Amino acid sequence: EKGDFDHFMLKEIFEQPQTIEETFKGRLNPGYSEIVLGGLQNVFPRIVDARRIIIIGCGTSWHAALIAEYLLEEYARIPVEVEYASEFRYRKPVIYKDDVVILISQSGETADTLAALRLAKNEGALVLGICNVVGSSLARETEAGVYTHAGVEIGVASTKAFTAQMTVLTLFALKLAKEKSTISAKEFDVLVKELAEIPEKGRVILQQNHRIQEIAAKYKDAVNALYLGRGCLFPVALEGALKLKEISYIHAEGYAAGEMKHGPIALVDDNLPVVVVAPQDAFYEKIVSNIQEIKARKGNVIAIISEGDSGLGELADDLIEIPGSQPALAPLLAVLPLQLLAYHIAVLRGCNVDQPRNLAKSVTVE
Ligand code: F6R
Repeated sequence: EKGDFDHFMLKEIFEQPQTIEETFKGRLNPGYSEIVLGGLQNVFPRIVDARRIIIIGCGTSWHAALIAEYLLEEYARIPVEVEYASEFRYRKPVIYKDDVVILISQSGETADTLAALRLAKNEGALVLGICNVVGSSLARETEAGVYTHAGVEIGVASTKAFTAQMTVLTLFALKLAKEKSTISAKEFDVLVKELAEIPEKGRVILQQNHRIQEIAAKYKDAVNALYLGRGCLFPVALEGALKLKEISYIHAEGYAAGEMKHGPIALVDDNLPVVVVAPQDAFYEKIVSNIQEIKARKGNVIAIISEGDSGLGELADDLIEIPGSQPALAPLLAVLPLQLLAYHIAVLRGCNVDQPRNLAKSVTVE
């Protein structure tokens, strides 16, 4: 039940610190020196020897896959391709027997994802699943996998299933990196310890719910919105835009910030809210100059910034702070304010956030 919350979506957003914790708890040994993914144990040697990883999903699960591409390539140094299930299944993809194909699906019943799974399996690749629903078709048909254990997700717009997918994929990337010796012991240690701190940092972000609601009130009548991010926060921008369009019916686009001047900047005027994910990471200066370009064209900037970053105060119209973290873990934090922003805008517009029009929780037909 919804308990104290007005909607399942809000309840599920607030459950995330706990679901993230539950997803990694039990998969880390007490000293945090080992990652245990029981469901993959038997096939792990094949994963270590793989030439390539292909990750497939739809919608929000596809966004999780995109983020994983950054982590796997950076830490495990293995080539990764990310595919929409609906495209992969119809385009005669080249699949090798030493490919690992990972299917990501909350429901485990998405028709296109299952079709992609069967195709990859037929070609002899090792097919793995990351899914939330225990005993789903995806769980049954893959050779091995990891459950996200996010609990039942009722809101049609995926929230806690996404952060649980990200948690599993982070564990997977770090474990693979460790087994392949492509990460230093120190780096591994720092990342795993920081992962354990993400739930608490998430709670700090969720405390800004009221402030995010106030920001939502300013932008609720927008017709379009743009979301920008760089690096592994680019897929977070895509996810923020998807959340907004799904539940508020405002047209929104996510872009890699560096792509802005290749087209989307033409949209910027004093009516356009631009949500910029701008923590103080390696891309900070570049993203600040993106913000300057938007402000020069009178766009309204809502910036997701690092806690205590005073530099953007003058420039952006609205600020939402997130605690600092290792860049690889920032997606788990940065997505929270974007979920809340979409939620509040949709509620203020009188939309049915838990059951948006035209959408189904599980897309079992193509
Ligand atoms: C977005 C959303 C959809 C699903 C997509 C895949 O909020 O819910 O985009 O992510 O339909 O669903 P699963 O993960 O069940 O395969």
